[in-house]
Amino acid sequence: PVRRMTAPRIAARKGGEPIVSLTSYHAHTAAIVDKYADFILVGDSLGMVMHGMESTVGVTVEMMITHCKAVVRGTQRALVVVDMPFGSYEESPSVAFRNAARIMQDTGCGAVKLEGGARMAETIHFLTERGIPVMAHIGLTPQSTNVMGGFKTQGRDEESWPLHEADAQAGAEAGAFALVLEGMVEPLAARITRQVAIPTIGIGASAECDGQILVLEDMLGLNPRPPKFVKVYGDLGGRIEKAVSDYAEEVRSRAFPTEDQTYR
Ligand code: KIV
Ligand code: NA
Repeated sequence: PVRRMTAPRIAARKGGEPIVSLTSYHAHTAAIVDKYADFILVGDSLGMVMHGMESTVGVTVEMMITHCKAVVRGTQRALVVVDMPFGSYEESPSVAFRNAARIMQDTGCGAVKLEGGARMAETIHFLTERGIPVMAHIGLTPQSTNVMGGFKTQGRDEESWPLHEADAQAGAEAGAFALVLEGMVEPLAARITRQVAIPTIGIGASAECDGQILVLEDMLGLNPRPPKFVKVYGDLGGRIEKAVSDYAEEVRSRAFPTEDQTYR
């Protein structure tokens, strides 16, 4: 039996070999990602990617549990980290613990992620002290879109740097095992990565981080309008469209099914 990656082993990778991560919400894709990634994030981006929502704000604990079970069943090596969805942790450390414990018990995941550094420090400490490894997520935090008025790259204004640096420091000191830096300019990501003792995992946050994460469907070419920070490694959208149109054509022309696909 293969031993699964753990949160402490991710934390120990600070400054070492870059940490590889992708999102997954689905057993068959997770099984492929599992061969190459150190951790797999069941991100609340599944609201948009899997369910066509406008933002992550409508994602529920039940949705996260459903997709996380699929990913845990499909994998054996990578650490599985689950996003705490909007509304499931902000209110108090004890509400956060109750929901995080339920997610861990129902799914078998190895850690949770939540948005916020300084504002979530007490909760990060509360959870880690009680057996739940926490990954913090700072910079551009999509669950706050309604307050921020959209998705904006963070740190363009140097005056905002101390706030982000304080977020990073607070998250790390509270006991987070790693820190996602989303949508921030390179010099700020570099400063934070130098300042904190835990690995930084970048998404739109430059090569200065200790690791990288992308949304799987974005890098596979399924998103027709991927953000600038995405490198598109595949053309899954084009490949799926070609396969579906070939199938439609063959059904209409009675070229499918043939002898090979028929029980005699
Ligand atoms: O929900 C998500 O996919 C994330 C990322 C860090 C990509 O939070
Ligand atoms: Na997320």
